[in-house]
Amino acid sequence: MHLPISELRNVVRGFNQIADDSNWNRFRDLPWELHRPELLSEGQKGAVSFVTIVEDHLPGYFQEYQKLFPIETAPNQEEAIHNRELFHFTVRWGLEEDRHAQALALYQINSGIEPSEEALEIQMIQENLKDFSIGFSEPVQVFTYTLLQEKATQMYYQSLAKGVTEPVLLKLLSFLSKDEARHYAFFAQMVETFIRTFGEDVLPQIEEVVFNYKMPLHNTMKDYRRRAIKMAREAPGYDRNAPQSILVSLLEKLAQKENIPAAPAVLKMAQKIRERLNLKITYAS
Ligand SMILES: [Fe+2]
Ligand SMILES: [Fe+2]
Repeated sequence: MHLPISELRNVVRGFNQIADDSNWNRFRDLPWELHRPELLSEGQKGAVSFVTIVEDHLPGYFQEYQKLFPIETAPNQEEAIHNRELFHFTVRWGLEEDRHAQALALYQINSGIEPSEEALEIQMIQENLKDFSIGFSEPVQVFTYTLLQEKATQMYYQSLAKGVTEPVLLKLLSFLSKDEARHYAFFAQMVETFIRTFGEDVLPQIEEVVFNYKMPLHNTMKDYRRRAIKMAREAPGYDRNAPQSILVSLLEKLAQKENIPAAPAVLKMAQKIRERLNLKITYAS
């Protein structure tokens, strides 16, 4: 189930109109003159190295999108056009995620978290060599999955920042979370457009992703569980289920809008997710 090209184009253009004006320089825009690495706790250093690996897995994420939305090997011309249109998003998004990875790696080196560039490079490439799969191939499921992932990273950076006093890391986290918020907004728009276009038919696919969601690399990163628990401790107020809650709020809001024939089914699904995942808190989406 693919979005009609005109619908997809609208969403991609909306993203790129803002993205084209949203640049920051990974080498020059951080206030290195204020750098005070002695203010970092051991836990914060661990959190930075964890998220560096997650961001640095970009080639795997990007490759997965290329595999799922190919141009040369698309089954027909229409799908090739669809995938080429989506590529306007994917390539810009990839650039931004790559900037995140490199900015975090540079921060690690400059702060002495991992003082050896070579050791860090080896650490990162070892993770990059592992296979990555989103686990879904239906477009709406791929986008729902990435929506949750983007929201999780945005909220993690914001929560982590609450305990950070080191000025350069604070600035970096603010750059990162603003980018992630834009990425989330793109995927939210995509999921909304799917529901507007296909109505009830897409709801079971969305639901399946919400109930089976796991963060990327959970099954491949060395020592993932222990590190994930530690990194959650560094982020005051970070709620692992918040991305799902936000998606539910988005669905509830969508159901209130005009011309949504699937509104009753959307509300029913939102309620089911709330109950099954025990989501009590409502976040603004
Ligand atoms: Fe990122
Ligand atoms: Fe992102």
